[in-house]
Amino acid sequence: MSKTVVITGASSGIGKALALEFAQRGYNLGLAARRLDKLEALRAEIVLLPGCQNLQVEVIELDVNQTDTVGPVLHTLFSHLNQVDVVIVNAGVNKLTSIGKGQLNEELGLIQTNLLGAIATVNAAVEWFKQAGGGQLVGISSLASLTPIPKQAAYCATKAAFSMYLDSAAIELKKYKIDVTKILPGFVKTDIVDNMDKFPFVVSAEQAAKEMAQHIEKRRSTGVVPAYPWKLLKPLLANMPSGVWRYMK
Ligand SMILES: NC(=O)c1ccc[n+]([C@@H]2O[C@H](COP(=O)([O-])OP(=O)(O)OC[C@H]3O[C@@H](n4cnc5c(N)ncnc54)[C@H](OP(=O)(O)O)[C@@H]3O)[C@@H](O)[C@H]2O)c1
Repeated sequence: MSKTVVITGASSGIGKALALEFAQRGYNLGLAARRLDKLEALRAEIVLLPGCQNLQVEVIELDVNQTDTVGPVLHTLFSHLNQVDVVIVNAGVNKLTSIGKGQLNEELGLIQTNLLGAIATVNAAVEWFKQAGGGQLVGISSLASLTPIPKQAAYCATKAAFSMYLDSAAIELKKYKIDVTKILPGFVKTDIVDNMDKFPFVVSAEQAAKEMAQHIEKRRSTGVVPAYPWKLLKPLLANMPSGVWRYMK
């Protein structure tokens, strides 16, 4: 029987590209985000792809900021699918924020979506996997979890915290046959920021999704995307001289 992958934040960018990539790999899909119209358009696009007309594609409206409803909404989605093999915790936001300039609400918003929303999603998935006897949890963190970036303090903090959460979860959940895959993307051209082209080594969402799917199918604990040059640079990121980031202001 075909495997099933559930993706949050599937209405655009990396999540949408992952949905298209996994569809072409024969997976049934559960797709969640706030913009239901985008998910329905994506479902229509997927079932027209060669070989995809018989895939099951379920969509549901989900706002991960409403942490109390994340579990019930995702469990409704899961119950519409025959089985749930992989859950990709992808929904996220980014915003340049300056510290001490009246942007506390924006910073708290990043923490709400990227960390609290992600943790709520992980809990919903793990509760389901424990009852099902196993599964694979995938978290889309960031290389920004490894290095301090000016005007990205809150974003970096959310990703560093989420990475640590995933690393702890990987150990805790092993005995329940739940594998955890942490994905660390570099710069991927999406709508998350409007000036992505000025960042180094940018790749398309399609290329990123292809590499991510390979890491996920191999059930790797960590996947750096794109692999090159970031796999080579990863050990240096935590010790990056602050001057390197200055040109990106
Ligand atoms: N692009 C990069 O360079 C990059 C690098 C490292 C990590 N990442 C991470 O990759 C993930 C996807 O980002 P992206 O670049 O693909 O950005 P994107 O194109 O802006 O997509 C973000 C997705 O998250 C969803 N989302 C945002 N807030 C949500 C909420 N409150 N509830 C439910 N869904 C929500 C959006 O859907 P709705 O608006 O329809 O809800 C959208 O589908 C994020 O976690 C991001 O931090 C991206």
